[in-house]
Amino acid sequence: MTKSVKKLLAVLNGEKQWPPPIWLMRQAGRYLPEYRALRSKARDFLHFCYSPELATEATLQPIRRFELDASIIFSDILVIPHALGRDVRFVENEGPQLEPLKSGDRLPELDTDKFAAHLAPVYEALRRTRAALPPSTTLIGFAGAPWTLACYMIDGRSRKDANGQAHFDMALQWVQQRPEHLAQLFELLSDAIVLHCVAQIDAGAEVIQLFDSWAGLLAPDNLTRWSIEPLIRIARNIKSLRPGTPVIVFPRQTGELTKLYAGSGAFNAISIDHAVKLSFARQELQKHCAVQGNLDPLVLVEGGAAMESAARHILDELRGGPFVFNLGHGVVPQTPPENVARLVALVRSA
Ligand code: CP3
Repeated sequence: MTKSVKKLLAVLNGEKQWPPPIWLMRQAGRYLPEYRALRSKARDFLHFCYSPELATEATLQPIRRFELDASIIFSDILVIPHALGRDVRFVENEGPQLEPLKSGDRLPELDTDKFAAHLAPVYEALRRTRAALPPSTTLIGFAGAPWTLACYMIDGRSRKDANGQAHFDMALQWVQQRPEHLAQLFELLSDAIVLHCVAQIDAGAEVIQLFDSWAGLLAPDNLTRWSIEPLIRIARNIKSLRPGTPVIVFPRQTGELTKLYAGSGAFNAISIDHAVKLSFARQELQKHCAVQGNLDPLVLVEGGAAMESAARHILDELRGGPFVFNLGHGVVPQTPPENVARLVALVRSA
């Protein structure tokens, strides 16, 4: 078999690659001075996402600096609710704010032509990025999972408690009290997610990552119905419409229940957060699919010896199976870019 020059694709097809491929969630973002300069050219974050020129440039910035193995298109999971006609705003230093969906509201409709026209700038950014990427760099498209999108759509925004833990109380109330209504919203969102992913693939995305950032808020009994099953169906639909496309799933803060996603056979890789034990990942996840993760983003902020020993520990534990080096969650704005360069060099010399 000929070896793909794209390391990430090889690992997602079950091959071991050493040194492993590396990319980072939120590798484009405010920690880069060139991103901040570019960001200041757009009126607001959504205009930034919908400018093919700016979005392509933001996507390419970390690739130029660090020569990562993959590039994730610069966009946001909340373009889906926006394309469905919901009001979405990104408020400086406060995060996204949506018009909350009330229980009596009619659900938006999926007008596929309107939806695709709204998201056309994202697809154009993918085409431009794909044309500009080095041949060894894989282009990743993405979407939010229905549960994570529903959290933002129903609550409008995340609310933090005294410990800084985010809450989406109304969405959880729908789980308990309005499951039929939530199921209707999930049907709509699942169709929209599949449509968006297929259009991204047609525009040049070679891999899809599905983000279920708030899966950990669901009690174990609810996780199957509202996260695992819908994500399996979405991954299978994408694969039946565009055969051979690898899908990565990121069910954040689901601990050892990540095994239920990995064992389903629907995903090529499972992205794990920094709370998942490496011995568990090696023994229970890597036998089913590739594992992606899981350096703590705050260790990347710290850098130095602490970062090096944490990164080496991950490499040592997961080197026996298909593995993609990444963080446990996104790069945070206070990260020194030099630490990213150091991390990439360390992984490349593994
Ligand atoms: O480099 C990349 O990872 C690609 C782009 C990307 C962004 N958002 C850009 C972004 C991706 C893959 C996302 C996914 C996303 N967006 C998720 C899932 C992953 C996760 O982080 O859990 C979620 C929950 C969102 C929703 C969202 N968008 C939030 C909560 C915020 C505010 C937090 C923050 O960091 O400001 C955003 C804004 C956002 N999306 C920024 C970026 C670079 C920062 C906005 C800015 O530049 O002002």
